[in-house]
Amino acid sequence: MIKVLFVCLGNICRSPTAEGVFRKLVEERGMVDYIEIDSAGTHAYHVGSPPDSRAQEAARRRGIDMSGLLGRRVDEGDFYVFDYILAMDESNEYHLREMAPPEEIYRVRRFLEFAPERSEREVPDPYYGGATGFENVLDLIEDASAGLLADIKLHLK
Ligand code: 4NP
Repeated sequence: MIKVLFVCLGNICRSPTAEGVFRKLVEERGMVDYIEIDSAGTHAYHVGSPPDSRAQEAARRRGIDMSGLLGRRVDEGDFYVFDYILAMDESNEYHLREMAPPEEIYRVRRFLEFAPERSEREVPDPYYGGATGFENVLDLIEDASAGLLADIKLHLK
């Protein structure tokens, strides 16, 4: 079993979107028995909250239901459980590296490493912007999800 944790700031926009997009891809490829998926935030502002309604709406238009997800904060135990701890942006990555036990830091990576065809290195925070921000988040996440699944398949073999 490979375990993947997507991480953003609030766990209500980007990381639940990544969880939903990646889960759909894993289901479509028949790999649910091999990959476990979760998401969390580096901050506690939205613990216990469902994903932002704008993120849910944008995802729903692409066939992804995120209505059952609830925000949670990253905790130290996560660094021992998840194989891939994937930060949406530089700030999330910095906070994860600060929190991580030194011997587990190697698990922390930037999600867009898996979308080398894109010039962006961060999934931008859409919280204070308009609807196009959420579409851009989905586009980036779809590209990186395909690359991530390919990487996991290499390690499962
Ligand atoms: P996320 O977006 O990190 O993608 O979930 C945000 C959600 C909430 C806030 C900022 C970003 N906030 O400041 O409350």
